[in-house]
Amino acid sequence: MKTQVNGINIDYRDGGRGIPVILIHAFPMNQAMWDDQVLALAPICRVITMDLRGFGASDIPRGPYWMALMASDVRGLMARLGIERAILAGLSMGGYVAMSFYHNFPDSVSGLVLADTRAAADTPEGRERRFASAEKADRDGVESIVDEMVRLLLSQAAIDTRPDVVNRVRQIALQNGPEGLAAAQRGMADRPDSTQMLANVDCPTLVLVGSEDRLSTPEETRGWQERIPNSRLGMISGAGHLSNIEQPEAFNTAIVDFITTLPISL
Ligand code: MLT
Repeated sequence: MKTQVNGINIDYRDGGRGIPVILIHAFPMNQAMWDDQVLALAPICRVITMDLRGFGASDIPRGPYWMALMASDVRGLMARLGIERAILAGLSMGGYVAMSFYHNFPDSVSGLVLADTRAAADTPEGRERRFASAEKADRDGVESIVDEMVRLLLSQAAIDTRPDVVNRVRQIALQNGPEGLAAAQRGMADRPDSTQMLANVDCPTLVLVGSEDRLSTPEETRGWQERIPNSRLGMISGAGHLSNIEQPEAFNTAIVDFITTLPISL
């Protein structure tokens, strides 16, 4: 389904009933990465996914797509759907957006799931890599950056032995256009450091990380997770960065446990 948010068309899906849970996707993916989670969550809650601006079937306006801008798209979608408060679950870039959302609209968040993401801003070298990747996508198309990204997004074991998983991730990435990916890279390069903000998060928070995640390592993750007062850390064993795709059952169990034990009515 599509709706207008902040002057652009946003593609979203809305299923199940009960407490609203909004799943925010990673880069360079789109809402299709959440298919296994939607199946697991729809029986217990209202589950909403969306293609962020520039991704999937949403419009591709001019960038950069700052995290606060994408967070305001999430807030706009909530308003369209009549949702005042929701659990936000973001993976990687989706986690950056969820942190920005919390910073700007804390009263609209009843719980946070931050998966395979980072609180720190980019290093100067990291920013340069993003600008180079944005230029490459603009110049040579999405295919030129996808294979390199897939190697970082998955564990070595998945790359070596699970062609179905590699293929699924590639196919989802290839559904995106180069302008959107470049604009998101430029927006991520500008994202602020969220580390200080974490001490003020006062909703229940679940932090998840794949044990084989090379982009947001378990060690780095534990470092910032411990700053969030009402939080716990769940390790997704044997998963790389896209832990929800590599180990959907463990990921789903963790998120279902979190939702069903929240001190809010389902
Ligand atoms: C993602 O999975 O969303 C990206 O790895 C985020 C990033 O490039 O920092």
